[in-house]
Amino acid sequence: MNPFKLDQKHIAITGASSGLGHYFAKLLAANGAKVTLGARRVEKLEENVSGIRSAGGTATALPLDVRNSESIKSFISAAADEHGAIDVLVNNAGVEAGSKTYMMIDEDDWDFVLETNLKGAWLTAKTYTSHVEASDAAGGNIIMVSSISDRRANRGQFPYAISKGALTRMTEVMALEAARYRIRVNALAPGYIVTDMNRSVLESEQFVPFRNNIPMRRYGQLEDLDGPLLLLASDASRYMTGSVLTADGGHVCASL
Ligand SMILES: NC(=O)c1ccc[n+]([C@@H]2O[C@H](COP(=O)([O-])OP(=O)(O)OC[C@H]3O[C@@H](n4cnc5c(N)ncnc54)[C@H](OP(=O)(O)O)[C@@H]3O)[C@@H](O)[C@H]2O)c1
Repeated sequence: MNPFKLDQKHIAITGASSGLGHYFAKLLAANGAKVTLGARRVEKLEENVSGIRSAGGTATALPLDVRNSESIKSFISAAADEHGAIDVLVNNAGVEAGSKTYMMIDEDDWDFVLETNLKGAWLTAKTYTSHVEASDAAGGNIIMVSSISDRRANRGQFPYAISKGALTRMTEVMALEAARYRIRVNALAPGYIVTDMNRSVLESEQFVPFRNNIPMRRYGQLEDLDGPLLLLASDASRYMTGSVLTADGGHVCASL
């Protein structure tokens, strides 16, 4: 028996219109899951869904704004109508405010990042928990997409790093509280992963010393997250809750 198989699991992914979420949806579908993709840019989700369907997978795109509780409720309810009870929720939607210090950000920056990365993750998890309770599912599984910024202090990441530090702690407290609903809660904490959005910055000359400070001396590629994500999404992690799985080439172990 393969404990990593996802056959027939219904997995909902927030922030699936670009970057990690876009990739996770394809990966999970390729491993047999039925996937529901949520984000604000529905046309981008539709492109992803078409690719997944062309490859033989099962996928649906739905509008989602994690800063809006009514949008979250509609997303969870429409996803369940489409593919049945949601086995796994991947809380991936996230934003940053650019390279700003605590003196440079304003209240709008703070609200934008904290409301998306933190309040959005809580509200989506809460709505999902109500869904699991009301459904005939045997339990549930929440994966928070955190970051090594939860522990590794960098100048200029002020509101983002705060949000990820709190998201990791949210994972731990929620794991304690969600066990009574038979829901597991874990976090994936990636290091610096190259995506279309950050490639030009990370691969610039200026960032070479930063990259060389990573013990494995390279940034992560999206494929480096396959194993950690499949572990957390599948029954292979059935005795894991409250864990933070780091995939960063050793970056948090390196001196700052
Ligand atoms: N790339 C990395 O190196 C890295 C490292 C560690 C952790 N992470 C984490 O990975 C996650 C994805 O980041 P990424 O690098 O892939 O960035 P990205 O390409 O900018 O993707 C962010 C995703 O979040 C969605 N999103 C933003 N605000 C939303 C909202 N209000 N409601 C619903 N969806 C929303 C975006 O979709 P719409 O704009 O269409 O709504 C998009 O799909 C984030 O949580 C990030 O902190 C990334």
